[in-house]
Amino acid sequence: MTTQGQVRLENVAKYHGQVAALKNVELDIRPGEFFALLGPSGSGKSTTLRLLAGLDKPTRGRILFDGADVTAKGAQDRDVAMVFQSYALYPHMTVAQNISFPLEMEKTPKAEIAGRVQEAARKVRIEHLLDRRPGQLSGGQQQRCALARAIVRRSGLFLLDEPLSNLDAKLRLETRTELKRLQRSLGVTTVYVTHDQEEALTLADRMAVFMDGEIRQIGSPAEVFARPNSIEVAAFIGSPPMNLMKATLTDGVPSIDGRPLDVKPVSGSREVIVGVRPSAVRIGGDGIRATVDLVENLGDNAILDLSYEGGTARARVDDAADYAEGQTVAMSFDAKNIHLFDAASGRRLEVQ
Ligand SMILES: Nc1ncnc2c1ncn2[C@@H]1O[C@H](COP(=O)(O)OP(=O)(O)OP(=O)(O)O)[C@@H](O)[C@H]1O
Ligand SMILES: [Mg+2]
Repeated sequence: MTTQGQVRLENVAKYHGQVAALKNVELDIRPGEFFALLGPSGSGKSTTLRLLAGLDKPTRGRILFDGADVTAKGAQDRDVAMVFQSYALYPHMTVAQNISFPLEMEKTPKAEIAGRVQEAARKVRIEHLLDRRPGQLSGGQQQRCALARAIVRRSGLFLLDEPLSNLDAKLRLETRTELKRLQRSLGVTTVYVTHDQEEALTLADRMAVFMDGEIRQIGSPAEVFARPNSIEVAAFIGSPPMNLMKATLTDGVPSIDGRPLDVKPVSGSREVIVGVRPSAVRIGGDGIRATVDLVENLGDNAILDLSYEGGTARARVDDAADYAEGQTVAMSFDAKNIHLFDAASGRRLEVQ
């Protein structure tokens, strides 16, 4: 079966006894898309991937590939290739044998196999390692071997579960770039599980933010970053995380420590949470009085830990040398970078 690569989950839930690993997930993934499932540990990302692979069956709901219901089909009957976090290479086989394994299983003609293995190995740049065993490879090379084994089948859908998590920081960055290039050149729909927001933000065309077995937001990384739809998502995306400050909304104008904020008014009077990323906090001039508790020098810039009467906040500033611990400063926020959330529901409030 060749697929275009459109994937749909309809009202999908997965229970392990009483434990809900996944509740009512609705998802549409477009052909050729690099789609990330992002969320904290235990939020249901791997569960979703295993359901897509056919390794597990949903308790409720349907899974469709290109409009066809595959819910009842096993992994063998779905046109998917999966790479696990652990790579799951066969230690007693050579790299070439590992890569050819899926083709042997499919009874691909022998004459064809060698060429396909070469081609897959070349795409991930391990053609020179085909005779080695996994134990004789570095972590990054093992990861490429697992990728080659996935692409050799020319599947319509790639499922990758934290494939870079075993690599050290530098190699992870390099491999990330290569993975993106490979996915673009193959044009295969890819579902990529990660708890690393930076990975999702750099790799994905779109992403779904998972929490507690539910999808909380779907959108491009830029959309989710610019307009998180809840306090939870706002707190999860961005590093250092967004400042979330208690504020009072009076006749549509929020104020912190009695100081009205310069935002276009919303409506009503109630408790709200003002969200401001550390990069949108201004120090100096007129503003909320705060004390510098800590100056964290990051080289290119610095993070200030601040405390003010109503709580704490962080600011990204250009130069650590301009600040001293214990110093009193004034902080204010760029009006266009202020996010407002309802304190009771946690939902984003639209600033008109
Ligand atoms: N076989 C199982 N039996 C019982 N509970 C399970 C089982 N598999 C998963 N769960 C639970 O379902 C929830 C979701 O698990 P899942 O593996 O999908 O999380 P995840 O988002 O991939 O997390 P991580 O980032 O840690 O890999 C977790 O609370 C987990 O403990
Ligand atoms: Mg997982």
